[in-house]
Amino acid sequence: MTKNAADPNVVLFFDTTLRDGEQSPGATMSSAEKLEIARQLARLGVDIIEAGFPAASPDDLAAVQRIAREVGTPDGPTIAGLARAVERDIRICWEGVRDAAKPRVHTFLGTSDIHLKYQTGLTHAQALEVIRNMVTLARSLCEDIEFSPMDAGRTDPQFLIDVCALAIECGATTLNIPDTVGYVTPTEWYETISTLIAETPGGGVGSGVVWSVHCHNDLGLATANTLAGVKAGARQVEVTINGIGERAGNTSLEEVAMALQTRAPFYGLQTHINTREIVKTSRLVSNYTGMHVQANKAVVGANAFAHEAGIHQDGMLKNASTYEIMTPESVGWTQSRLVLGKHSGRHALKVRLEELGYDLDKEQLQQVFERFKVLADAKKNVTDADLEALMTDELARPQEYFKLEDMQVVAGTMGMPTATVKLSTAEGETIIQAAVGVGPVDACFKAVDSVVRLDNTLIEYNVHSVTEGIDALGEVTVRISTPDGKRSFGGYGADKDVIVSSVMAYLAALNRMIAGIGLGEKKPEGDAATVAIQR
Ligand code: KIV
Ligand code: ZN
Repeated sequence: MTKNAADPNVVLFFDTTLRDGEQSPGATMSSAEKLEIARQLARLGVDIIEAGFPAASPDDLAAVQRIAREVGTPDGPTIAGLARAVERDIRICWEGVRDAAKPRVHTFLGTSDIHLKYQTGLTHAQALEVIRNMVTLARSLCEDIEFSPMDAGRTDPQFLIDVCALAIECGATTLNIPDTVGYVTPTEWYETISTLIAETPGGGVGSGVVWSVHCHNDLGLATANTLAGVKAGARQVEVTINGIGERAGNTSLEEVAMALQTRAPFYGLQTHINTREIVKTSRLVSNYTGMHVQANKAVVGANAFAHEAGIHQDGMLKNASTYEIMTPESVGWTQSRLVLGKHSGRHALKVRLEELGYDLDKEQLQQVFERFKVLADAKKNVTDADLEALMTDELARPQEYFKLEDMQVVAGTMGMPTATVKLSTAEGETIIQAAVGVGPVDACFKAVDSVVRLDNTLIEYNVHSVTEGIDALGEVTVRISTPDGKRSFGGYGADKDVIVSSVMAYLAALNRMIAGIGLGEKKPEGDAATVAIQR
């Protein structure tokens, strides 16, 4: 089966985690992190990766170019970039994607009366003129053109048909219909998409045009609306991992993929998604963005396959199909298999990591091996889940302006929680600071603050254990924001000691903040108890 062909039996997955997903408050990712996610999306089997918005900044352009060159191989996914319907955006977008074996330019214009009146000030006739000129320009550069009439969910139905017909006439090959503000309901959306396919000149069944749906989750209906669009004939779905995106987010890839697979007799459609890669992709995105996945999230939440009630457990013991409509393994939840222990060597670790899909160079292997040894000393059995957490921690680590060398914490019911941290800088300095706090984590963060001296607000702190048992690895995700709350940054840490994980996660977020805004705003000196500074 050829990928991206307009096959009526296949639903194409267009992943926009790196573009619409990155627009979630605080989900900013570095270029290296985006590349790592793009590689994982390719392993997951998505058909099209929207790698970014190249005209937004030189960094965005560079990230899209890198993904186009390294992930957009002939047997890899199509690489798309987003562009407003303006000449500069379209030309920069083409520069971003042109090195991919299968490049796509995705251009859009708001078409609802609300967007036309308040955003662009265009009349219907002027909007049609812009679409004519810009889709024609895009098509002169690239063969694969996607056009989106933004806020289609609130666009006049006849005008929407006129817009789509014109975009097709000017060379658009995919017509993506966005419910930009998450306003529509499934039955309405079914009607909208069926009518568009039936009545748009040049867009009917057999025309070769791919109809696509792009839904937002403001009313919690994104997945339902997307599936209604598919039932109506859409053969591309625009989705993000974990449903991250503007405001309440976009449609979740994992929910749509599993609905199509689990209810295959109802939909009668295939996908190219390798569902066993879902959990791994979800964790990678969560850890890079610092956006924790809620426990009851469908498919990828920690409780998605947990059974608490006695009657449910009883049923599960008799036959799993009593309370499970899909198996945890089918989406990549691994059983906590016992794999390695303290006597396992570097080679065994390498082999197991390769089996789990991690290909490390010598230096990376050495680094992970050292951490594995420390873990195996403290924990009898190191499971696949432990290894995945260690690897995510290694891969999710941003450029380290400050690195944790050592730390010590005193806490309990007597006295004040006190932490001492020893950090090294990229220039090779070593700095030791200590601080007291309301608890051990607070004391640690204050000690780190007195070294890093970067004003920020802690807006989220989550801790959970990787496996069961008292000796489980503890994973921590944190999110911090600039004092004005305008930008936020996430961090992830995994260690057998949750206080150490906390400091690692906090430092990862601070390092991302430094990469994002620099070390400009320093705190006044002496706001934490300074015990010693060694340089
Ligand atoms: O939600 C939206 O309308 C978008 C478009 C740019 C496709 O993200
Ligand atoms: Zn969107």
